[in-house]
Amino acid sequence: MKRVISFLIIIVLLPSLLLAKEGMWIPSLLNKFVEKDMRKMGMRLTAEEIYSINQASLKDAIIIFGGGCTGEVVSDQGLVLTNHHCGYGAIQSHSSVEHDYLTNGFWAMSKEEELPNPGLTATFLVRIEDVSEKVLAELNDNMTEAERSAAVKEKTDALIAEAEKDTHYKAVVKPFYYGNEYYMFLYEEYKDVRLVGAPPSNIGKFGGDTDNWMWPRHTGDFSVFRIYADKDNNPAEYSEDNVPYKPMKHLKISLKGYEKDDFTFVFGYPGSTEQYLPSFAIDNIVNEVNPIRIDMRTERLDIMNKYMEQDQKIRIQYAAKYAGTSNGWKKWQGENRGIERMDAIGKKQHLEKHFMEWAAMNDQRSKLYGGLVPAFEEIYTNLEPYSRARAFLLETLFGIEISRFSRNFKKLVTLSNADDPDEKAIEEQIEKIRKAAKGHFKNYHAPIDKEITAKMLDLYFHRLNRDLQPQIITEIIQDYDADFTAYAEELFDDSFMSSEKEVNEFLDKYKTRKAKKIEKDPAYVLGEALYNHYFSNILPATSQWDSDLDSLQRIYIRGLKEYQKNRRFYPDANFTLRVTYGKIQGYEPRDAVAYEYFTTLEGVMAKEDPDIYDYVVEDKLKELYHKKDYGRYAGDDGKMHVCFIASNHTSGGNSGSPVLNADGHLIGLNFDRNWEGTMSDLMYDPDMCRNITLDVRYALFIIDKFAGAGHLIDEMTIIE
Ligand code: ARG
Ligand code: GLU
Repeated sequence: MKRVISFLIIIVLLPSLLLAKEGMWIPSLLNKFVEKDMRKMGMRLTAEEIYSINQASLKDAIIIFGGGCTGEVVSDQGLVLTNHHCGYGAIQSHSSVEHDYLTNGFWAMSKEEELPNPGLTATFLVRIEDVSEKVLAELNDNMTEAERSAAVKEKTDALIAEAEKDTHYKAVVKPFYYGNEYYMFLYEEYKDVRLVGAPPSNIGKFGGDTDNWMWPRHTGDFSVFRIYADKDNNPAEYSEDNVPYKPMKHLKISLKGYEKDDFTFVFGYPGSTEQYLPSFAIDNIVNEVNPIRIDMRTERLDIMNKYMEQDQKIRIQYAAKYAGTSNGWKKWQGENRGIERMDAIGKKQHLEKHFMEWAAMNDQRSKLYGGLVPAFEEIYTNLEPYSRARAFLLETLFGIEISRFSRNFKKLVTLSNADDPDEKAIEEQIEKIRKAAKGHFKNYHAPIDKEITAKMLDLYFHRLNRDLQPQIITEIIQDYDADFTAYAEELFDDSFMSSEKEVNEFLDKYKTRKAKKIEKDPAYVLGEALYNHYFSNILPATSQWDSDLDSLQRIYIRGLKEYQKNRRFYPDANFTLRVTYGKIQGYEPRDAVAYEYFTTLEGVMAKEDPDIYDYVVEDKLKELYHKKDYGRYAGDDGKMHVCFIASNHTSGGNSGSPVLNADGHLIGLNFDRNWEGTMSDLMYDPDMCRNITLDVRYALFIIDKFAGAGHLIDEMTIIE
């Protein structure tokens, strides 16, 4: 009997215990129920210390770094930490053969040496406002989805205008729970963000794409920036007169380390998750869309790799493209495995079955929710071929560089073909294309693109229903006998867009109304064909279903909340600030294998391979390792800790996010998830999902001991 009772207790308690780590919470709402749970797990802060509009709080030290990462302020002079892969573009843009900062690293030894990055921004969140009532007051259930969107837009535009009035802030209103709630975010964007330091790639990107999404990990994925402001501490474009920004709050850095089961939390900007999809959607993603994306990318990666292996210059040129392509490729494979292992589709079907039974229990519910699941099923059945078409098209569009580049000429064509061409606008457009061409060709190798062009179209042709393929494929089949290589060969021979020289010659000689040559260019023709196919065929066919799905999802979540009264719902990620929390924990990836929760420099040395680019270890680092010269950055075990894992629920966009301890002190920088846990964007598994974090002590050790930039450490507030 006793056994039965304790078994029952376990069964009852288990879900809530496990769920404790799942979720990405809105920081202004922590006090509702999350704060209590966080404190129960060991946190020594209050919700008010994390997010407050009345006083400086931790949230004032968090930024959106650039367009898709998180960063944090770590000194009273606006010093910022983020990931190396987030600063990569900036580091690359300052790199040349003479100053190869990607390879060798970069360290400004004084503020004068810090490098400006036009276009790079650091954005602070001023406050969050729940505007649900105001927006929902304008809506009713009889509206069509289009009417609803229009009403939402009108109201949110007004709210935004009101919030921004007489300020330099930027307001954004975003839907939560598919439009059951709305929140407004007020931002302050700083525009002078300078590069302060970056480790060499063989530290910042150690393990490269091989180790990406993997645990155990040994990547020193950090870079250092500084925010500058005008004399009044307000945002300003770059100017020599700007001064280091004085933050309301900067994070203190703890050198104390952590132990198994210690509480941690993460602040950051996760981009997008889809936790409340029906089983049909998961089935579609895992069995239709992901396999197409994966296969298309396998081909592209193979082609890039073939050239990169042969030539050092090409390797550098394609490093970022390869990394970007590979990142999704690998993640989707992990996602598919995770979904399968968890039987996520089966679990969702089970939930849907019980939800329908519950809905059928009374008239009102059955009217509201009874039709949902069958409606989902019908739409996803209709969407299926189109979702395949969309996947092929998107991968082709992004995969073929030349047709993407050709889109730069679109506006020039329109301007030139106008009845009364605007010469000035044409000149400006030409200058724009020149600039784009410079960036594009710096990292371009036409033979790679040519092979990829042939391969993408070939896959498209062989693997998708003919009626969903763009018309141009039919033409290639007729004109080239389905020989896509011959087609690509001719395209690259004939197009003036395949070399920088030809593009510039063309622009030098370009006179108004000479758009014909552009319009006839085969790369431009291909670009037009692909884009037009999307906008004239795919989008019109799917947009009604997509909007129907939005409204079904909105009702479904409302229903689920009624049905699962005890479940703690959290909104899907939508690139707004979130807090997630968990514990320092290893995991068991498969039978008989257990992973520890941290890695050390010993592991870097064990992975060392001077012949493989991603596993080179520099002499200086080896020397420090052999002398065990870790200073105050060593762990209690005398080792140099490099990375650790914890059960915080994170996603893409959380890169660079601060990982904080129970006192809110910085202990690491989030930069990845484990491969076995990448399905967490669709379904979270507390046993398997871990976020991968760079131990902040390793970053400081590299800054101080490796780079000799101790003056940066002096700026920080260190807790020993
Ligand atoms: N997987 C991480 C993220 O999703 C890191 C990506 C960059 N690193 C790489 N080796 N590609 O962004
Ligand atoms: N590397 C990801 C990023 O850049 C974070 C890892 C994840 O997807 O969880 O945002």
